[in-house]
Amino acid sequence: LRRASSSSCTSSHLLRRSYSSESHPERKVAVLGAAGGIGQPLALLMKLNPLVSTLSLYDIAGTPGVAADVGHINTRSEVAGFMGEEQLGQALKGSDVVIIPAGVPRKPGMTRDDLFNINAGIVKSLCIAIAKYCPNALVNMISNPVNSTVPIAAEVFKKAGTYDERKLFGVTMLDVVRAKTFYAGKSKVPVAEVNVPVVGGHAGITILPLFSQATPKSNDLSDEEIKALTKRTQDGGTEVVEAKAGKGSATLSMAYAGAIFADACLKGLNGVSDVVECSFVQSNITELPFFASKVRLGKNGVEEVLGLGPLSDYEKQGLESLKPELQASIEKGIKFAHQN
Ligand code: NAI
Repeated sequence: LRRASSSSCTSSHLLRRSYSSESHPERKVAVLGAAGGIGQPLALLMKLNPLVSTLSLYDIAGTPGVAADVGHINTRSEVAGFMGEEQLGQALKGSDVVIIPAGVPRKPGMTRDDLFNINAGIVKSLCIAIAKYCPNALVNMISNPVNSTVPIAAEVFKKAGTYDERKLFGVTMLDVVRAKTFYAGKSKVPVAEVNVPVVGGHAGITILPLFSQATPKSNDLSDEEIKALTKRTQDGGTEVVEAKAGKGSATLSMAYAGAIFADACLKGLNGVSDVVECSFVQSNITELPFFASKVRLGKNGVEEVLGLGPLSDYEKQGLESLKPELQASIEKGIKFAHQN
């Protein structure tokens, strides 16, 4: 009798769990480059995310330590560390979301494009493995130059026959995070309520924050102030690179931005409605093949690429002047993928 009652107790508990709105499906997230400046705090933040059931940490060195450390935190996910190329397949297998902050960061005086030669090769080899071991995963590309690494990933996936444009994302969330912070500071509105779309790409003038669409509205910002906010958002990465004086680029704010974006991807996969974030994706809202704009996330990744909305004259000008540079960076990525 006792056994029967305990088993019925267990099954009703299980039922409750599986039907409860608070229970979440199993989701595996892999972080590639997990022992790096971004990778470590990103691993920490993903360990705190209740939507993650398995957290897979991969790097060419240092992952056992990061995995052991993060793995002691008493949250839902199981953590496993993988090191070296022979363990990459195991790290990726079954992943729902793969976040890539692998590669070298900028030093003072360098542009994101200066990173191209090293990071392009790293991204290419990681994407070949993704196509092989978890072709259905959503890929969140953080490695710079994002304007080129995303087209490289697309070409690798096309060649492998696994490309699904809905599943490849350049992470531009840090530009949005910065635009929100700077806008709230200037317009004195509560930062937690602020939203600012950022479109275009992820380098210098290709980053185009749309302050004319910022909410809550602030009517007392002058044209000069909008210009200054735009420039500060575009140069936000350089501000950090210079302040770190040779010790790398943004890592903590990037980890935050990467964690927020991955969380949005997981929510979309889990069927949460109306999840909208900015990302650099395959797009036809301009003549460029890849473009950052607001996208609606869903069960298959990108459900809808949203249009630009009404732009101010200043933003229209910014849009026209970013196109040649962004186009060139996209072409550079595609060319690399074909030649190497
Ligand atoms: P980091 O040098 O501190 O870490 C990079 C990690 O990647 C290292 O642990 C390294 O061992 C690992 N790595 C190198 N080759 C690898 C491979 N083949 N497979 C797996 N892991 C590999 O650099 P940090 O500061 O973490 O930056 C990483 C990347 O993120 C850089 O490309 C940087 O430019 C980019 N970034 C992107 C931002 C964005 O907004 N999308 C913002 C800030 C940085």
